[in-house]
Amino acid sequence: MTIRPASTDWNALAKFFHWSIVVLLLVQGIVALLMDGFPREMRSTVMMLHKSTGVLILLLAIARVAWRLLSKAPPALPEVSAANRLLAHLGHLALYLLLFAVPLSGFLMSAYGGRAVDFYGLFTLPTFVATNESLGEVMHQIHEPLFFALVLLASAHMAAALYHHFVKRDATLTRMLPGGRC
Ligand code: HEM
Repeated sequence: MTIRPASTDWNALAKFFHWSIVVLLLVQGIVALLMDGFPREMRSTVMMLHKSTGVLILLLAIARVAWRLLSKAPPALPEVSAANRLLAHLGHLALYLLLFAVPLSGFLMSAYGGRAVDFYGLFTLPTFVATNESLGEVMHQIHEPLFFALVLLASAHMAAALYHHFVKRDATLTRMLPGGRC
């Protein structure tokens, strides 16, 4: 039994944004969870890399949404029911919101605390906001729960993609894969 090739792929830039953000989020999540295990003298460098990668993810998310609005998404596969399409749309919308909320809360945690982000040691980003310890604390409180919500939702999203591929045997996953056929 072969999996039916996609009739219409996601375009190359949409795939690039999707998979580069997935890889960066994975690295970012693993490094963040292991942060306390790094030797004390390495922590400020690791934190600088964590913040810089967070900003990079935010910039990629902005570019991704801009591209998504400018370019056409492939038409829904006819075999996917209207109810499932709606569910997928709502899930994608929530993923986009969390994709912004997680790095933005991290950035604002630093900015409200008066700590500017040194972007990979290349240059210092403006903080954009005035120092505000209580708002900084709010960002600190929500950053990790938002990250876990993203992990949870992304896991359900991944499970749905694998269900389409291995159980329904449709082209949902292949048309999002690099090198997938049009
Ligand atoms: C942190 C991880 C992930 C995030 C944040 C994420 C986010 C998204 C978003 C927002 C979309 C909607 C695209 C749009 O309509 O503009 C999407 C589509 C898609 N994602 Fe992911 N994704 C992640 C991981 C994965 C993984 C691991 C897989 C595969 C196993 C996957 C497979 C897909 C597929 C197949 C689509 C296209 C769905 C369709 O054609 O309706 N994603 N993803």
